Amino acid sequence: MVFGSTERKIDKMIYVLVKNATVVVPGPKIASQMGVSPSSVFRWVKKLRGLGVEIKGHVGTGYQLSKIPDVLVPSLIKAELGEGEIGHNIVHHFRTESTNTVAMILAQQGTAHGTVVVAEEQTAGRGRLGRTWYSEKSSGIYASVILRPTLSPAAAPILTLMAGVATQHALSSVTGLSVDIRWPNDLLVNGRKVCGILTEMSAELGRLHAIVLGIGINVNHDEMPAELRSLATSLRIESRRSWSRVQIFIALLKELQRCYHLLLEKGSAAIVDQWAAASSFASGKRIRIVTAEAESIATTAGVDRGGALRVRYDDGHQEALVAGEIAEVK
Ligand code: BTN
Repeated sequence: MVFGSTERKIDKMIYVLVKNATVVVPGPKIASQMGVSPSSVFRWVKKLRGLGVEIKGHVGTGYQLSKIPDVLVPSLIKAELGEGEIGHNIVHHFRTESTNTVAMILAQQGTAHGTVVVAEEQTAGRGRLGRTWYSEKSSGIYASVILRPTLSPAAAPILTLMAGVATQHALSSVTGLSVDIRWPNDLLVNGRKVCGILTEMSAELGRLHAIVLGIGINVNHDEMPAELRSLATSLRIESRRSWSRVQIFIALLKELQRCYHLLLEKGSAAIVDQWAAASSFASGKRIRIVTAEAESIATTAGVDRGGALRVRYDDGHQEALVAGEIAEVK
C-alpha cells in the first residue's frame, strides 16, 4: 500500500491556523495564504478535520483551532530551524509504511542531502535485526534522515553513533530525564527503551551514495503493548506527563546538525568521546552478548574510533564488537 506525502496546502493551512491560534481567522485570509479560492476553504477545513485536526467554525467570521495540533508538518518545524542542511527539506506523511523505506527510495532518486522524511503513523515500521517497530499514530516520532557524506561505507557505524548521541542530547535537554545509550544506539530511560535507530545505506565499490538514519522515539504512548512492556517505555510513561513532539523533533534536527558537523570537522574521536560521556555502557558494564550462534558474558572496555565496542571476557581475552546486540547483566 502506497500513501502519498502531505499536500503543501494542508501544511500551509495548519501553519496559518497555528500562527493565528488565539483568534478567529477569516476564510478569505486563510484562502489567500494557502493560494486557494475563498469558496474552497470549507472543503480544506473538512479535509483537515478528517486528518484529526480539531477546527471550530464561527458563522460569518471564520475558523479557529480548538487546540494546537502536535503535528510534525514541515512549515511548523522549518520555521524554527536555522540555515543548516538537516531538515531544509522535510517530507511529511500522515501515514506511511516506513519512513526508512520512503527515504531509501527518495535517496535512490537523488533527493538532496539533509532531507528528512517524517510520519505521524507507520503501518510497517521496521526495527533492527528484521524486527518491526511499534508506530502508534501521533504518539511517537518516526523520522528518517538522508545524508550524503563524502565518507566511505566503513564510516556507517560512526554515523549511527552520531545519531544516538544527537538523539540522547535532544531528549535529555527537552525532558530533563536521564537518558542512557546502550551500544550501539538504543536510548533507555530507567533501563527500558524509548528510542531505536535503524541505519541503512546505498553504496557500491567503496563509495557511500547515501545513508538513511531512521529514528523512532516513543513520546506520548500511554502504555506500550503487553509484549513490549518489559523492554520498552515512552517519555510520557517515565515522566507522567505528555510532551510536544514538535519541540522534541526541532531539538532532534538541531542536534543532528550540530553532531554531524562535529563529526566532519573534528572526526570520529569527537563523536566517540560524546558517546562515551552519555553512555553507562561505554566501560566497566557487565553485559550479555547475543549473536545468532551463541550468548556470552563480558565486561565493556571502551569504544574504538570506528564505533566498535571493546569487550573483555572473564578469561582475559578481548574482542571488538562491530554489530549485534547486548544487554546489561543485572
Ligand atoms: C531498532 O530496532 O531499535 C530500530 C528502530 C528504528 C525505528 C525507526 S521509526 C522511523 C524509521 N522507519 C522505520 O521503519 N524504522 C525507523
